[in-house]
Amino acid sequence: MTAEATISTTSVTDAIDVRGLRIRNRIWIAPMCQYSVMAYDGVPTDWHRVHYGALAAGGTGLLVVEATAIAPEGRITRQDTGLWNDAQVEAWRPIVDFAHGQGAAIGVQLNHAGAKASTYAGFGRDGDARGSVPIEAGGWQTVSASDEAILGLAAPRALTVDEIDGIVAAFVAAAHRAVDAGFDLVEVHAAHGYLLHQFLSPLTNRRTDAYGGDLAGRARLLLEVVAAIRAELPELPIILRMSATDWTEGGLDAEQSATVAAWACEAGADLVDASSGGAVLADIPVGPGYQVHLAERIGEEGVPVSAVGLIETAEQADAVVRAGVDAVRVGRAALRDPFLPIRWARELGADVDWHPPQYARAY
Ligand SMILES: Cc1cc2nc3c(=O)[nH]c(=O)nc-3n(C[C@H](O)[C@H](O)[C@H](O)COP(=O)(O)O)c2cc1C
Repeated sequence: MTAEATISTTSVTDAIDVRGLRIRNRIWIAPMCQYSVMAYDGVPTDWHRVHYGALAAGGTGLLVVEATAIAPEGRITRQDTGLWNDAQVEAWRPIVDFAHGQGAAIGVQLNHAGAKASTYAGFGRDGDARGSVPIEAGGWQTVSASDEAILGLAAPRALTVDEIDGIVAAFVAAAHRAVDAGFDLVEVHAAHGYLLHQFLSPLTNRRTDAYGGDLAGRARLLLEVVAAIRAELPELPIILRMSATDWTEGGLDAEQSATVAAWACEAGADLVDASSGGAVLADIPVGPGYQVHLAERIGEEGVPVSAVGLIETAEQADAVVRAGVDAVRVGRAALRDPFLPIRWARELGADVDWHPPQYARAY
């Protein structure tokens, strides 16, 4: 999308279809870990019911719930949610049903944290501890593309090819459970330095086999995950979240990410969300809309995209969509105000009926 590109008439308040899923607007809630499973069993709790209930009532088109582990050892912390067993499916279901009752679509972000697993949450049952949880204190041996430690965490063990097959299978099993729980879509987490990003980035993948080396080799695992979910669940919309740049010389950059995004769409992804960073320490030029250009670059490949990162006003969000990005996602601003989508629609002068009928007198 160039500066001269036509400004579209599509607004952030307009509906969009993703693989047959109608989403009532393009103001989406970004996945945000709550680290609130104090039983350490991956089962969502009262906190999740209230937190996601408020966000679903707030008018968003699409709420994607937090990074949810495909396997116990894929959790960032022991306080993460999961989708590796039936008890978790049963606990997610009422959250999903409530969101649907509010008119929101709801998805779940599926994650394996790789070398960034087995850390302390920094609050709750974990207390204020930070960093890796030692194995003798209830942590576990982490895994990754390579065996080098990252970000000062405990050193991972490089996955064998058989184990990589198991990771793909676990993503597929979790996607099936997501469908069982009623989720409308899944988001494959290949951003923020977690396992799929650890494979994709040349800074963290030192493998010499088919899952390392050139871009195609490093992208192989995430493409296999997307293709395997697509093969088993042909109607399920799939979002791929990427860190489209490592913000580091010699790391992943927007050009490579645009190529991978196009491959992912061929493999079955429906939309790519462009985030950034998280695999290595980097100097990130954080500011309003600082990642929007990454979504725009990926969009040039003909890939449907969402933009995220300090998109905090209605005018800014609407301009991003009018410039050609398919949707915006909001994180922290929606924690401050779960009703932000309704507020934005009113600020933009759109006539919408997204508020709960119980709150009609407030509008
Ligand atoms: C409390 C919190 C938890 C987060 N957890 C996740 C997560 O589970 N998965 C993820 O991909 N990003 C996560 N993020 C990043 C957000 O999805 C989002 O990309 C980021 O906050 C930038 O958007 P914002 O400026 O609108 O907040 C988290 C952010 C926050 C503030």
